[in-house]
Amino acid sequence: MSLLDLWLSRSVPTCLLLQSLLLIGFCFPSADTCPKGCACVRGDGLNVTCSHAQLRAIPGDLPPDTVLLRLDHNQISAIPPGAFRGLVRLRELNLSHNAVETVGESALRGVESTLRTLDLSHNRISSVHRDAFARLKARVHIGDNPWHCDCALQQALRVMAYNHEAAGRVLCHSSPLRDHQEGRPFLAMDADLCNLAKRTTDYAMLVTMFGWFAMVISYVVYYVRQNQEDARRHLEYLKSLPSKAPAKPDEADDISTVV
Ligand SMILES: *[C@@H]1O[C@H](CO)[C@@H](O)[C@H](O)[C@H]1NC(C)=O
Repeated sequence: MSLLDLWLSRSVPTCLLLQSLLLIGFCFPSADTCPKGCACVRGDGLNVTCSHAQLRAIPGDLPPDTVLLRLDHNQISAIPPGAFRGLVRLRELNLSHNAVETVGESALRGVESTLRTLDLSHNRISSVHRDAFARLKARVHIGDNPWHCDCALQQALRVMAYNHEAAGRVLCHSSPLRDHQEGRPFLAMDADLCNLAKRTTDYAMLVTMFGWFAMVISYVVYYVRQNQEDARRHLEYLKSLPSKAPAKPDEADDISTVV
């Protein structure tokens, strides 16, 4: 009896301690890693849903094993470089219906190889870095944005694996072309927007060179004129010399008489 008592008195606290340690180990990470305003559901991988959560920025504490991330219908205005870098299993990212204005070169760094679906539709994107989607293997939705159809966009779409589907939904809000009409599909513009930009820089270079040339010419003209003036003055001086020349010997005589 007393032996059982002794065993119980020693093992019960040990059991409780072990249990609480296990509880801490299991409960805390899952309770900690679901960001505020989001719902984390473990199904076929971890689904994190932060739709309609009035988020102004991408949560910083996203669980590393997130597979599907819904951030749609928020007020997110920027995707910082490497914003999803830790999410090594991310397959689907929905950022539709936000206020994103641009996609930088390294915005999607770290998830390029795993991402299969990227929804950036219904944002305020007008331009992207030309390499923003370069290494992406995902199906990208970029329609319903106020696109500025320029060389960078043309380059960004050119390197995308699913460029035709994505480009098909891009309507140009503005463009460097003079004769463009607002709302024209990007694919309907068959101009090479990059060569256009190159031609513009060539033209600017030509104008600058012409400007320099004009400056050099006008300086030369000015210099020649100035020299002519000097030469004329010098000539006049020389002409006036003979009348003063006889005065010099007198001065010399004066000096010698003084000496
Ligand atoms: C992203 O979310 C919006 C809003 O819930 C939805 O309409 C859209 O289909 C989603 N995009 C993808 C690619 O599933």
